[in-house]
Amino acid sequence: MQNSYKRVDAHLSSLGYCSRSEAKKFLKMFRVCIDGVRVFDVDKKAYHNDITVDDEVLDAESLLILLNKPHGVICSHDDAGVLIYSLLPLRWQRRNPKISTIGRLDVDTTGAILLTDDGALNHKLTSPKSDVIKVYEATLAQELRGDEADIFASGKLMLNGEKKPLLGAKLEVISPLHVRVEICEGRYHQVKRMFAAVGNRVVTLHRVSFGDFSVEELKPSQYKVITI
Ligand code: URA
Repeated sequence: MQNSYKRVDAHLSSLGYCSRSEAKKFLKMFRVCIDGVRVFDVDKKAYHNDITVDDEVLDAESLLILLNKPHGVICSHDDAGVLIYSLLPLRWQRRNPKISTIGRLDVDTTGAILLTDDGALNHKLTSPKSDVIKVYEATLAQELRGDEADIFASGKLMLNGEKKPLLGAKLEVISPLHVRVEICEGRYHQVKRMFAAVGNRVVTLHRVSFGDFSVEELKPSQYKVITI
């Protein structure tokens, strides 16, 4: 776990408690202590773990959050509409570096999405080389033909406009219009395009899990912090 040593105003502003210019006022309004001793000097340096605000330890320096994305929110920092970050506490929304989603879900897709302010972790988990397994449940517009599981598993399925076939994916039939799909890539609109490639259409899409992280116990919009 990180425990950086820097100015108090730098700690507070990077964690979203206040801006650097508001820090002086913040120290007057809240009991900010280093090792239990109250401070009023914004330029005092300290380790993250030694600082408290009103007797509470500071938020972690790096956050990994699992959120059950509801329908209709957007995985973006700057598109018009309801952004996924608005579901997080205000203080987390003001962190610098920013919290970003690890990959994206479409606006109409629900379910498991990880968010972090750790750029290296985000890069690692979204890299094409990352083989994190993602499990989706989809409802379909038409009943399956019967050959879809073999086609998905073949490692030969080409998506429209792409040069490389998809890696093999697992399809499990839950009922004629309801399936579970397991993929280890994260191509643009991948699941919807896979079903389009076999003449079907995804009507609803829910990501049950991303790697080891499942949202089965989280209600829509609920999140939990994952300790890293
Ligand atoms: N595949 C899609 O088509 N959409 C998503 O949101 C995720 C995977």
